[in-house]
Amino acid sequence: MDSHRRALLQAAVATPAAAALPAAAAPAADVDLVLTAAPGEARILDGPPTGVWQFRARLDAGGGDSVQPLGESYLGPTLRLRHGQSVRVRFDNGLPQPSIVHWHGMLVPDSADGHPRLAIAPGAHYEYRFDVRNRAGTYWYHPHPHGLTGPQVYGGLAGLLIVHDDEERSLGLPAQEHDLALVLQDRLFGPNNRLVYDGGGTGMGRMMSGMLGFFGDTVLVNGRAGFAQEVERRAYRLRLLNGSNARIYRLAFGDGRAMAVIGTDGGLLPQPLQRRAVTLAPGERIELWVDFSGDRGGTIALVSEAFDAGNGAGMGGMMRPGMMGGGHAAGQGAPLQLARFLVRSGAAGADRLPARLAALPPLDAAAAFSGRERVFRLQGAHMRWTINGRTYQHDEVADDEIVRLGTAEVWAFENFGGMGMMGAQPHPMHVHGVQFRVLERRMSTPAAAYWQRLREGLVDQGFKDTVLVLPGERVRVQVRFDAHAGLFLYHCHNLEHEDMGMMRSFRIDA
Ligand code: C2O
Ligand code: CU
Ligand code: CU
Repeated sequence: MDSHRRALLQAAVATPAAAALPAAAAPAADVDLVLTAAPGEARILDGPPTGVWQFRARLDAGGGDSVQPLGESYLGPTLRLRHGQSVRVRFDNGLPQPSIVHWHGMLVPDSADGHPRLAIAPGAHYEYRFDVRNRAGTYWYHPHPHGLTGPQVYGGLAGLLIVHDDEERSLGLPAQEHDLALVLQDRLFGPNNRLVYDGGGTGMGRMMSGMLGFFGDTVLVNGRAGFAQEVERRAYRLRLLNGSNARIYRLAFGDGRAMAVIGTDGGLLPQPLQRRAVTLAPGERIELWVDFSGDRGGTIALVSEAFDAGNGAGMGGMMRPGMMGGGHAAGQGAPLQLARFLVRSGAAGADRLPARLAALPPLDAAAAFSGRERVFRLQGAHMRWTINGRTYQHDEVADDEIVRLGTAEVWAFENFGGMGMMGAQPHPMHVHGVQFRVLERRMSTPAAAYWQRLREGLVDQGFKDTVLVLPGERVRVQVRFDAHAGLFLYHCHNLEHEDMGMMRSFRIDA
Protein backbone atom coordinates (compact mmCIF):
# COMPACT_ATOMS: atom_id res chain seq x y z
CA MET A 1 0.00 0.00 0.00
CA ASP A 2 1.48 3.35 -0.92
CA SER A 3 1.77 6.13 1.61
CA HIS A 4 -0.89 8.24 -0.08
CA ARG A 5 -3.40 5.45 0.32
CA ARG A 6 -2.30 4.68 3.87
CA ALA A 7 -2.74 8.31 4.88
CA LEU A 8 -6.25 8.34 3.46
CA LEU A 9 -7.04 5.16 5.25
CA GLN A 10 -5.91 6.59 8.56
CA ALA A 11 -7.93 9.73 7.95
CA ALA A 12 -10.99 7.62 7.31
CA VAL A 13 -10.48 5.65 10.50
CA ALA A 14 -9.84 8.76 12.56
CA THR A 15 -13.06 10.45 11.55
CA PRO A 16 -15.76 7.85 11.96
CA ALA A 17 -19.09 8.82 10.54
CA ALA A 18 -22.23 9.98 12.23
CA ALA A 19 -23.10 7.38 14.84
CA ALA A 20 -26.00 5.07 14.11
CA LEU A 21 -29.24 5.63 15.98
CA PRO A 22 -29.91 3.19 18.78
CA ALA A 23 -32.17 0.52 17.32
CA ALA A 24 -34.82 0.91 20.01
CA ALA A 25 -35.39 4.59 19.22
CA ALA A 26 -35.66 4.12 15.49
CA PRO A 27 -39.11 4.30 13.93
CA ALA A 28 -40.09 1.43 11.66
CA ALA A 29 -39.41 1.43 7.92
CA ASP A 30 -41.22 -0.45 5.16
CA VAL A 31 -38.01 -2.28 4.36
CA ASP A 32 -35.50 -2.85 7.12
CA LEU A 33 -32.32 -4.79 6.60
CA VAL A 34 -28.83 -5.44 7.85
CA LEU A 35 -26.17 -5.43 5.14
CA THR A 36 -22.78 -6.86 6.04
CA ALA A 37 -19.56 -6.64 4.02
CA ALA A 38 -17.04 -9.32 4.93
CA PRO A 39 -14.42 -11.66 3.45
CA GLY A 40 -15.76 -14.92 2.06
CA GLU A 41 -15.23 -17.56 -0.60
CA ALA A 42 -16.92 -18.19 -3.92
CA ARG A 43 -16.69 -20.94 -6.54
CA ILE A 44 -15.92 -19.05 -9.74
CA LEU A 45 -13.61 -21.34 -11.73
CA ASP A 46 -13.03 -25.09 -11.60
CA GLY A 47 -10.67 -25.98 -8.77
CA PRO A 48 -10.23 -24.21 -5.47
CA PRO A 49 -12.71 -21.53 -4.38
CA THR A 50 -11.69 -17.88 -4.74
CA GLY A 51 -11.31 -15.56 -1.78
CA VAL A 52 -13.70 -12.64 -2.24
CA TRP A 53 -15.28 -9.83 -0.27
CA GLN A 54 -19.03 -9.92 -0.27
CA PHE A 55 -22.23 -8.30 0.85
CA ARG A 56 -24.81 -10.38 2.68
CA ALA A 57 -28.18 -9.14 3.79
CA ARG A 58 -30.63 -10.08 6.50
CA LEU A 59 -34.15 -8.79 6.04
CA ASP A 60 -35.86 -7.72 9.26
CA ALA A 61 -38.99 -6.15 7.72
CA GLY A 62 -40.47 -5.88 4.24
CA GLY A 63 -41.84 -8.33 1.68
CA GLY A 64 -39.96 -11.58 1.21
CA ASP A 65 -38.91 -10.51 -2.28
CA SER A 66 -37.13 -7.35 -1.05
CA VAL A 67 -33.86 -9.31 -0.83
CA GLN A 68 -33.09 -11.93 -3.48
CA PRO A 69 -29.82 -13.81 -3.96
CA LEU A 70 -28.33 -13.43 -7.45
CA GLY A 71 -27.89 -17.14 -8.00
CA GLU A 72 -24.62 -18.74 -6.85
CA SER A 73 -22.48 -15.65 -6.79
CA TYR A 74 -20.13 -13.50 -4.76
CA LEU A 75 -22.32 -10.54 -5.66
CA GLY A 76 -24.57 -9.08 -3.01
CA PRO A 77 -28.27 -9.94 -3.04
CA THR A 78 -30.56 -7.98 -5.34
CA LEU A 79 -32.62 -5.47 -3.37
CA ARG A 80 -36.11 -4.99 -4.85
CA LEU A 81 -37.82 -1.82 -3.71
CA ARG A 82 -41.05 -0.09 -4.63
CA HIS A 83 -41.35 3.62 -5.34
CA GLY A 84 -42.53 5.36 -2.15
CA GLN A 85 -41.20 2.80 0.33
CA SER A 86 -39.21 3.92 3.34
CA VAL A 87 -35.96 2.02 3.78
CA ARG A 88 -33.63 1.49 6.70
CA VAL A 89 -30.32 -0.29 6.23
CA ARG A 90 -27.81 -1.01 8.91
CA PHE A 91 -24.41 -1.49 7.28
CA ASP A 92 -21.95 -3.61 9.25
CA ASN A 93 -18.33 -3.29 8.17
CA GLY A 94 -16.76 -6.71 8.56
CA LEU A 95 -13.82 -5.81 6.30
CA PRO A 96 -10.27 -5.18 7.47
CA GLN A 97 -10.45 -1.63 6.02
CA PRO A 98 -12.76 1.38 6.16
CA SER A 99 -15.81 1.26 3.95
CA ILE A 100 -19.19 2.86 3.29
CA VAL A 101 -22.01 1.86 0.94
CA HIS A 102 -23.29 4.05 -1.88
CA TRP A 103 -26.65 3.51 -3.65
CA HIS A 104 -25.68 4.36 -7.21
CA GLY A 105 -28.35 6.36 -9.04
CA MET A 106 -30.66 6.64 -6.05
CA LEU A 107 -32.00 10.03 -4.96
CA VAL A 108 -31.20 9.82 -1.25
CA PRO A 109 -30.28 12.44 1.39
CA ASP A 110 -26.56 13.12 1.66
CA SER A 111 -26.40 11.34 5.03
CA ALA A 112 -27.45 8.16 3.16
CA ASP A 113 -25.36 8.66 0.03
CA GLY A 114 -22.19 6.89 1.09
CA HIS A 115 -19.90 9.90 0.66
CA PRO A 116 -16.28 8.88 1.42
CA ARG A 117 -16.15 11.27 4.38
CA LEU A 118 -18.69 8.93 6.03
CA ALA A 119 -16.51 5.82 5.75
CA ILE A 120 -16.58 3.73 8.91
CA ALA A 121 -13.81 1.74 10.54
CA PRO A 122 -13.63 -2.07 10.55
CA GLY A 123 -16.18 -3.42 13.01
CA ALA A 124 -18.26 -0.24 12.99
CA HIS A 125 -21.76 0.18 11.59
CA TYR A 126 -23.70 2.93 9.86
CA GLU A 127 -27.41 3.49 9.58
CA TYR A 128 -29.04 4.59 6.32
CA ARG A 129 -32.56 5.93 6.02
CA PHE A 130 -34.16 7.00 2.79
CA ASP A 131 -37.42 6.99 0.88
CA VAL A 132 -37.50 5.51 -2.60
CA ARG A 133 -38.03 8.52 -4.88
CA ASN A 134 -36.60 7.05 -8.08
CA ARG A 135 -38.51 5.89 -11.11
CA ALA A 136 -38.67 2.18 -11.74
CA GLY A 137 -35.26 1.13 -12.97
CA THR A 138 -32.01 -0.71 -12.44
CA TYR A 139 -29.72 0.83 -9.84
CA TRP A 140 -26.90 -0.70 -7.81
CA TYR A 141 -24.92 -0.47 -4.61
CA HIS A 142 -21.20 -0.64 -3.98
CA PRO A 143 -18.58 0.67 -1.52
CA HIS A 144 -17.26 4.22 -1.80
CA PRO A 145 -14.32 4.78 0.61
CA HIS A 146 -11.78 7.13 -0.93
CA GLY A 147 -8.78 5.41 -2.48
CA LEU A 148 -10.25 1.95 -1.88
CA THR A 149 -13.36 1.80 -4.07
CA GLY A 150 -11.56 0.04 -6.94
CA PRO A 151 -10.13 -2.82 -4.88
CA GLN A 152 -13.30 -3.27 -2.80
CA VAL A 153 -15.61 -3.50 -5.82
CA TYR A 154 -13.05 -5.73 -7.55
CA GLY A 155 -13.00 -8.01 -4.53
CA GLY A 156 -16.72 -8.66 -5.03
CA LEU A 157 -18.58 -5.89 -3.23
CA ALA A 158 -21.50 -4.90 -5.46
CA GLY A 159 -25.17 -5.68 -5.81
CA LEU A 160 -28.24 -4.64 -7.78
CA LEU A 161 -31.02 -2.43 -6.49
CA ILE A 162 -34.14 -2.65 -8.61
CA VAL A 163 -37.00 -0.19 -8.20
CA HIS A 164 -40.54 -0.97 -9.35
CA ASP A 165 -43.45 1.43 -9.76
CA ASP A 166 -47.07 1.44 -10.97
CA GLU A 167 -46.34 2.98 -14.36
CA GLU A 168 -43.92 0.16 -15.12
CA ARG A 169 -46.37 -2.46 -13.92
CA SER A 170 -49.11 -1.13 -16.23
CA LEU A 171 -46.90 -1.89 -19.24
CA GLY A 172 -46.93 -5.63 -18.64
CA LEU A 173 -43.24 -6.05 -19.47
CA PRO A 174 -41.71 -9.50 -18.91
CA ALA A 175 -41.51 -10.02 -15.13
CA GLN A 176 -40.38 -12.51 -12.49
CA GLU A 177 -38.26 -15.25 -14.08
CA HIS A 178 -38.54 -13.44 -17.42
CA ASP A 179 -36.85 -10.34 -15.99
CA LEU A 180 -33.13 -11.16 -15.96
CA ALA A 181 -30.32 -9.04 -14.57
CA LEU A 182 -26.75 -9.50 -15.79
CA VAL A 183 -23.80 -7.87 -14.02
CA LEU A 184 -20.68 -7.67 -16.22
CA GLN A 185 -17.27 -7.65 -14.51
CA ASP A 186 -13.83 -8.53 -15.84
CA ARG A 187 -11.38 -10.26 -13.56
CA LEU A 188 -7.84 -11.63 -13.64
CA PHE A 189 -7.02 -14.90 -11.87
CA GLY A 190 -3.65 -15.98 -10.51
CA PRO A 191 -2.44 -19.33 -9.09
CA ASN A 192 -5.06 -21.25 -7.07
CA ASN A 193 -7.84 -19.16 -8.60
CA ARG A 194 -6.77 -16.15 -6.60
CA LEU A 195 -8.14 -12.79 -7.77
CA VAL A 196 -5.33 -10.55 -9.01
CA TYR A 197 -5.98 -6.83 -8.89
CA ASP A 198 -3.07 -4.72 -10.03
CA GLY A 199 -1.55 -6.58 -12.92
CA GLY A 200 1.23 -8.20 -10.99
CA GLY A 201 2.04 -5.43 -8.56
CA THR A 202 5.17 -4.30 -10.35
CA GLY A 203 5.74 -0.58 -10.42
CA MET A 204 4.92 -0.47 -14.10
CA GLY A 205 1.82 -2.63 -13.78
CA ARG A 206 0.48 -0.50 -10.99
CA MET A 207 1.25 2.70 -12.82
CA MET A 208 -0.51 1.51 -15.96
CA SER A 209 -3.53 0.32 -13.96
CA GLY A 210 -3.80 3.74 -12.43
CA MET A 211 -3.66 5.57 -15.71
CA LEU A 212 -5.78 3.27 -17.87
CA GLY A 213 -7.69 1.39 -15.21
CA PHE A 214 -7.81 -2.31 -14.45
CA PHE A 215 -8.46 -4.88 -17.22
CA GLY A 216 -9.01 -8.59 -16.59
CA ASP A 217 -9.04 -11.34 -19.19
CA THR A 218 -12.13 -13.18 -17.95
CA VAL A 219 -15.55 -11.58 -18.02
CA LEU A 220 -17.79 -12.85 -15.25
CA VAL A 221 -21.53 -12.47 -15.55
CA ASN A 222 -23.28 -12.47 -12.17
CA GLY A 223 -20.02 -13.69 -10.71
CA ARG A 224 -19.73 -16.74 -12.99
CA ALA A 225 -17.33 -17.57 -15.80
CA GLY A 226 -18.81 -18.97 -19.05
CA PHE A 227 -22.27 -17.75 -18.08
CA ALA A 228 -25.15 -19.59 -19.74
CA GLN A 229 -28.85 -19.08 -19.11
CA GLU A 230 -31.71 -21.30 -20.24
CA VAL A 231 -34.58 -19.31 -21.65
CA GLU A 232 -38.07 -20.06 -22.96
CA ARG A 233 -39.28 -19.19 -26.45
CA ARG A 234 -40.72 -15.86 -25.43
CA ALA A 235 -39.74 -12.28 -24.58
CA TYR A 236 -37.41 -11.32 -21.74
CA ARG A 237 -36.45 -8.10 -20.05
CA LEU A 238 -32.66 -8.00 -19.75
CA ARG A 239 -31.10 -5.56 -17.32
CA LEU A 240 -27.38 -5.11 -17.90
CA LEU A 241 -25.05 -3.42 -15.43
CA ASN A 242 -21.45 -2.69 -16.26
CA GLY A 243 -19.98 -3.37 -12.83
CA SER A 244 -16.42 -3.48 -14.18
CA ASN A 245 -13.72 -1.19 -12.84
CA ALA A 246 -12.58 0.25 -16.19
CA ARG A 247 -13.77 -1.89 -19.09
CA ILE A 248 -16.20 -0.48 -21.64
CA TYR A 249 -18.35 -2.99 -23.55
CA ARG A 250 -19.70 -2.78 -27.07
CA LEU A 251 -22.64 -5.11 -26.54
CA ALA A 252 -24.18 -7.04 -29.40
CA PHE A 253 -25.81 -10.36 -30.09
CA GLY A 254 -23.52 -12.87 -31.74
CA ASP A 255 -25.82 -13.27 -34.74
CA GLY A 256 -26.10 -9.51 -35.25
CA ARG A 257 -29.83 -9.30 -34.49
CA ALA A 258 -31.10 -5.89 -33.38
CA MET A 259 -31.24 -4.93 -29.73
CA ALA A 260 -34.43 -3.25 -28.51
CA VAL A 261 -33.32 -0.77 -25.85
CA ILE A 262 -36.14 0.00 -23.41
CA GLY A 263 -34.32 1.67 -20.52
CA THR A 264 -31.13 3.39 -19.40
CA ASP A 265 -29.65 4.37 -16.00
CA GLY A 266 -32.72 6.13 -14.61
CA GLY A 267 -35.42 3.80 -15.92
CA LEU A 268 -37.61 3.24 -18.95
CA LEU A 269 -37.46 5.28 -22.16
CA PRO A 270 -40.57 6.86 -23.75
CA GLN A 271 -40.31 4.33 -26.58
CA PRO A 272 -37.97 1.50 -27.54
CA LEU A 273 -34.88 2.17 -29.67
CA GLN A 274 -33.49 -0.37 -32.10
CA ARG A 275 -29.70 -0.69 -32.09
CA ARG A 276 -27.30 -3.20 -33.53
CA ALA A 277 -24.76 -2.59 -30.77
CA VAL A 278 -24.84 -0.73 -27.49
CA THR A 279 -21.94 0.91 -25.64
CA LEU A 280 -21.95 0.36 -21.88
CA ALA A 281 -19.34 2.13 -19.73
CA PRO A 282 -18.52 1.38 -16.08
CA GLY A 283 -21.42 2.29 -13.80
CA GLU A 284 -23.98 2.46 -16.62
CA ARG A 285 -27.08 0.28 -17.02
CA ILE A 286 -29.09 -0.58 -20.08
CA GLU A 287 -32.35 -2.51 -20.36
CA LEU A 288 -33.20 -4.59 -23.39
CA TRP A 289 -36.33 -6.38 -24.54
CA VAL A 290 -35.30 -9.62 -26.23
CA ASP A 291 -37.65 -12.04 -27.96
CA PHE A 292 -36.43 -15.64 -28.23
CA SER A 293 -39.69 -16.99 -29.69
CA GLY A 294 -38.06 -17.56 -33.09
CA ASP A 295 -35.11 -19.49 -31.68
CA ARG A 296 -36.27 -23.03 -31.06
CA GLY A 297 -33.48 -24.90 -29.30
CA GLY A 298 -30.81 -22.47 -30.45
CA THR A 299 -27.99 -20.70 -28.65
CA ILE A 300 -27.81 -16.93 -28.78
CA ALA A 301 -24.56 -15.31 -27.67
CA LEU A 302 -24.11 -11.93 -26.06
CA VAL A 303 -20.70 -10.55 -26.95
CA SER A 304 -18.61 -7.44 -26.65
CA GLU A 305 -17.38 -6.49 -30.10
CA ALA A 306 -13.87 -5.22 -30.74
CA PHE A 307 -13.30 -1.50 -30.89
CA ASP A 308 -10.25 0.65 -31.32
CA ALA A 309 -9.27 2.26 -28.06
CA GLY A 310 -6.58 4.35 -29.69
CA ASN A 311 -3.91 2.00 -28.41
CA GLY A 312 -4.41 -0.98 -30.67
CA ALA A 313 -5.77 -2.99 -27.73
CA GLY A 314 -8.57 -4.37 -29.87
CA MET A 315 -5.94 -6.25 -31.81
CA GLY A 316 -3.79 -7.13 -28.84
CA GLY A 317 -1.68 -4.00 -28.77
CA MET A 318 0.95 -2.73 -26.43
CA MET A 319 -0.73 -0.76 -23.66
CA ARG A 320 -2.04 -3.60 -21.58
CA PRO A 321 -1.54 -3.39 -17.83
CA GLY A 322 -1.86 -7.16 -17.37
CA MET A 323 0.82 -7.72 -19.98
CA MET A 324 3.03 -5.10 -18.39
CA GLY A 325 2.66 -6.91 -15.10
CA GLY A 326 3.22 -10.36 -16.57
CA GLY A 327 -0.45 -11.40 -16.78
CA HIS A 328 -2.58 -12.05 -19.83
CA ALA A 329 -5.21 -9.37 -19.62
CA ALA A 330 -7.17 -8.38 -22.69
CA GLY A 331 -6.99 -4.63 -23.05
CA GLN A 332 -9.74 -2.08 -23.58
CA GLY A 333 -11.55 -2.88 -26.82
CA ALA A 334 -10.66 -6.58 -27.03
CA PRO A 335 -13.49 -8.78 -28.37
CA LEU A 336 -15.09 -10.89 -25.63
CA GLN A 337 -17.69 -13.61 -25.13
CA LEU A 338 -20.06 -12.57 -22.35
CA ALA A 339 -23.05 -14.89 -22.05
CA ARG A 340 -25.06 -17.54 -23.89
CA PHE A 341 -28.81 -17.94 -23.91
CA LEU A 342 -29.86 -21.56 -24.44
CA VAL A 343 -33.34 -21.47 -25.92
CA ARG A 344 -35.55 -24.42 -25.00
CA SER A 345 -37.73 -26.08 -27.54
CA GLY A 346 -41.48 -25.91 -26.99
CA ALA A 347 -44.30 -23.62 -27.98
CA ALA A 348 -43.42 -20.07 -28.94
CA GLY A 349 -44.90 -17.15 -27.03
CA ALA A 350 -46.46 -14.18 -28.80
CA ASP A 351 -45.20 -11.25 -26.74
CA ARG A 352 -45.33 -7.76 -28.14
CA LEU A 353 -42.95 -4.98 -27.35
CA PRO A 354 -45.06 -1.98 -26.27
CA ALA A 355 -44.68 0.94 -28.69
CA ARG A 356 -44.89 3.41 -25.79
CA LEU A 357 -43.09 2.89 -22.54
CA ALA A 358 -42.81 5.40 -19.69
CA ALA A 359 -43.46 9.14 -19.78
CA LEU A 360 -40.41 11.40 -19.53
CA PRO A 361 -40.69 15.07 -18.62
CA PRO A 362 -39.76 17.23 -21.61
CA LEU A 363 -36.30 18.75 -21.59
CA ASP A 364 -36.43 22.32 -20.35
CA ALA A 365 -35.08 24.02 -23.45
CA ALA A 366 -34.97 27.49 -21.92
CA ALA A 367 -32.83 26.36 -19.02
CA ALA A 368 -30.82 24.16 -21.35
CA PHE A 369 -29.64 26.97 -23.51
CA SER A 370 -29.81 30.11 -21.40
CA GLY A 371 -29.27 28.79 -17.88
CA ARG A 372 -26.07 28.63 -15.96
CA GLU A 373 -23.44 26.46 -17.63
CA ARG A 374 -20.56 24.95 -15.73
CA VAL A 375 -17.61 23.47 -17.54
CA PHE A 376 -15.67 20.51 -16.18
CA ARG A 377 -12.36 19.88 -17.91
CA LEU A 378 -11.18 16.30 -17.68
CA GLN A 379 -7.41 16.35 -17.87
CA GLY A 380 -4.32 14.39 -17.10
CA ALA A 381 -1.53 16.18 -15.27
CA HIS A 382 1.52 14.90 -13.43
CA MET A 383 0.40 11.28 -13.69
CA ARG A 384 -3.05 11.96 -12.26
CA TRP A 385 -6.47 12.50 -13.77
CA THR A 386 -8.06 15.74 -12.68
CA ILE A 387 -11.32 17.69 -13.01
CA ASN A 388 -10.70 21.38 -13.66
CA GLY A 389 -7.16 20.72 -12.48
CA ARG A 390 -8.32 19.47 -9.09
CA THR A 391 -8.43 16.12 -7.34
CA TYR A 392 -10.53 14.85 -4.45
CA GLN A 393 -10.06 16.31 -0.97
CA HIS A 394 -12.31 15.31 1.91
CA ASP A 395 -14.74 18.14 2.75
CA GLU A 396 -13.37 20.48 0.11
CA VAL A 397 -15.89 22.27 -2.08
CA ALA A 398 -14.71 25.09 -4.31
CA ASP A 399 -16.84 28.20 -4.94
CA ASP A 400 -17.73 26.90 -8.38
CA GLU A 401 -18.94 23.59 -6.93
CA ILE A 402 -21.99 24.98 -5.14
CA VAL A 403 -25.46 24.84 -6.71
CA ARG A 404 -28.96 25.70 -5.52
CA LEU A 405 -31.70 23.24 -4.70
CA GLY A 406 -34.63 23.59 -7.09
CA THR A 407 -32.59 24.88 -10.04
CA ALA A 408 -31.53 23.34 -13.34
CA GLU A 409 -28.12 23.83 -14.92
CA VAL A 410 -26.09 22.67 -17.85
CA TRP A 411 -22.93 20.81 -16.97
CA ALA A 412 -20.44 20.44 -19.80
CA PHE A 413 -17.80 17.73 -19.55
CA GLU A 414 -14.83 18.38 -21.83
CA ASN A 415 -12.35 15.62 -22.51
CA PHE A 416 -9.55 17.32 -24.43
CA GLY A 417 -6.59 16.66 -22.17
CA GLY A 418 -4.41 13.66 -22.75
CA MET A 419 -1.39 12.50 -20.89
CA GLY A 420 1.75 12.06 -22.94
CA MET A 421 1.95 8.87 -24.97
CA MET A 422 -1.23 7.58 -23.37
CA GLY A 423 -3.34 10.25 -25.01
CA ALA A 424 -6.75 11.19 -23.69
CA GLN A 425 -8.77 8.39 -22.11
CA PRO A 426 -12.52 7.82 -21.92
CA HIS A 427 -14.13 9.00 -18.68
CA PRO A 428 -17.58 7.76 -17.63
CA MET A 429 -18.71 10.76 -15.58
CA HIS A 430 -21.14 10.08 -12.76
CA VAL A 431 -23.06 12.57 -10.59
CA HIS A 432 -24.56 11.63 -7.22
CA GLY A 433 -27.91 12.85 -5.96
CA VAL A 434 -29.45 13.48 -9.39
CA GLN A 435 -30.64 11.91 -12.62
CA PHE A 436 -29.71 14.11 -15.59
CA ARG A 437 -30.47 14.31 -19.30
CA VAL A 438 -27.91 14.41 -22.10
CA LEU A 439 -28.47 17.49 -24.28
CA GLU A 440 -25.66 17.28 -26.75
CA ARG A 441 -22.48 15.42 -27.57
CA ARG A 442 -19.88 17.02 -29.81
CA MET A 443 -16.59 15.79 -31.12
CA SER A 444 -14.18 18.70 -30.99
CA THR A 445 -10.80 17.21 -31.77
CA PRO A 446 -9.75 14.56 -34.25
CA ALA A 447 -8.56 12.28 -31.44
CA ALA A 448 -12.12 11.04 -31.07
CA ALA A 449 -12.04 9.37 -34.48
CA TYR A 450 -10.32 6.42 -32.82
CA TRP A 451 -13.42 5.87 -30.77
CA GLN A 452 -15.96 5.91 -33.60
CA ARG A 453 -17.12 2.33 -32.99
CA LEU A 454 -17.97 3.16 -29.40
CA ARG A 455 -19.67 6.42 -30.35
CA GLU A 456 -22.05 4.55 -32.65
CA GLY A 457 -23.38 2.50 -29.76
CA LEU A 458 -23.90 5.27 -27.21
CA VAL A 459 -27.41 5.52 -25.83
CA ASP A 460 -27.83 9.01 -24.40
CA GLN A 461 -31.62 8.91 -24.11
CA GLY A 462 -33.65 8.93 -20.92
CA PHE A 463 -32.50 9.73 -17.43
CA LYS A 464 -28.80 9.13 -16.87
CA ASP A 465 -26.53 9.28 -13.86
CA THR A 466 -23.38 8.23 -15.70
CA VAL A 467 -22.34 9.44 -19.15
CA LEU A 468 -19.35 8.33 -21.16
CA VAL A 469 -17.18 11.23 -22.34
CA LEU A 470 -14.87 9.99 -25.08
CA PRO A 471 -11.53 11.60 -25.96
CA GLY A 472 -12.08 14.77 -27.94
CA GLU A 473 -15.70 15.08 -26.87
CA ARG A 474 -17.69 17.77 -25.13
CA VAL A 475 -20.87 16.38 -23.58
CA ARG A 476 -23.53 18.75 -22.25
CA VAL A 477 -26.08 17.48 -19.77
CA GLN A 478 -29.01 19.13 -18.05
CA VAL A 479 -29.01 18.53 -14.31
CA ARG A 480 -31.91 19.39 -12.00
CA PHE A 481 -31.10 19.64 -8.32
CA ASP A 482 -34.54 18.88 -7.00
CA ALA A 483 -34.16 15.90 -4.68
CA HIS A 484 -32.09 16.78 -1.59
CA ALA A 485 -29.75 19.52 -0.39
CA GLY A 486 -26.36 18.49 0.94
CA LEU A 487 -22.89 17.31 -0.01
CA PHE A 488 -22.68 14.97 -3.00
CA LEU A 489 -20.03 13.73 -5.42
CA TYR A 490 -19.25 13.85 -9.08
CA HIS A 491 -16.49 11.66 -10.43
CA CYS A 492 -15.15 9.41 -13.11
CA HIS A 493 -16.56 5.88 -12.72
CA ASN A 494 -13.38 4.30 -14.02
CA LEU A 495 -12.66 3.15 -10.47
CA GLU A 496 -8.89 3.46 -10.79
CA HIS A 497 -9.31 7.05 -12.00
CA GLU A 498 -11.71 7.69 -9.13
CA ASP A 499 -9.34 6.24 -6.55
CA MET A 500 -6.52 8.41 -7.91
CA GLY A 501 -8.64 11.43 -7.12
CA MET A 502 -10.69 12.07 -10.29
CA MET A 503 -13.57 12.91 -8.00
CA ARG A 504 -14.89 16.04 -6.34
CA SER A 505 -17.61 16.99 -3.90
CA PHE A 506 -20.29 19.49 -4.84
CA ARG A 507 -22.84 21.06 -2.55
CA ILE A 508 -26.53 21.59 -3.13
CA ASP A 509 -27.65 24.52 -0.97
CA ALA A 510 -31.29 24.81 0.04
CU1 C2O B 1 -21.24 4.12 -8.55
CU2 C2O B 1 -19.92 7.49 -6.78
O1 C2O B 1 -20.54 5.77 -7.66
CU1 CU C 1 -23.30 6.95 -7.55
CU1 CU D 1 -11.67 8.60 -15.95
